[in-house]
Amino acid sequence: MPKPKYHILVCKNTRPPGHPKGSCGEKGAMGVLNQFNFGVMERNLIGKVIVTPTDCLGPCQLGPTVVVYPDGVWYKSVTEADVAAILDEHIGKGKPVDRLKLPDEVWG
Ligand code: FES
Repeated sequence: MPKPKYHILVCKNTRPPGHPKGSCGEKGAMGVLNQFNFGVMERNLIGKVIVTPTDCLGPCQLGPTVVVYPDGVWYKSVTEADVAAILDEHIGKGKPVDRLKLPDEVWG
């Protein structure tokens, strides 16, 4: 098996309803995860890209959170409809999707 070129982390963490931090899970992260898995298969990227579901990555209020390595690009509020742009623009062409980037200010 060749070493994958990209690793996509998708936070799927859930918290109880009403929790002050919210969670990616309650904002549709499982659908986003499924869409990444489907999109990787559809584009024949298996082996080049690994998709891994994770627990909390930190910026919960702006979830669902997705991180693409080795580039270290963080994405915020990712929806199922955004997955194609990340796969086609970032993974396919090496151009991160600016409109979905998590602002650096989040890290304070
Ligand atoms: S719950 Fe997803 S980043 Fe915290």
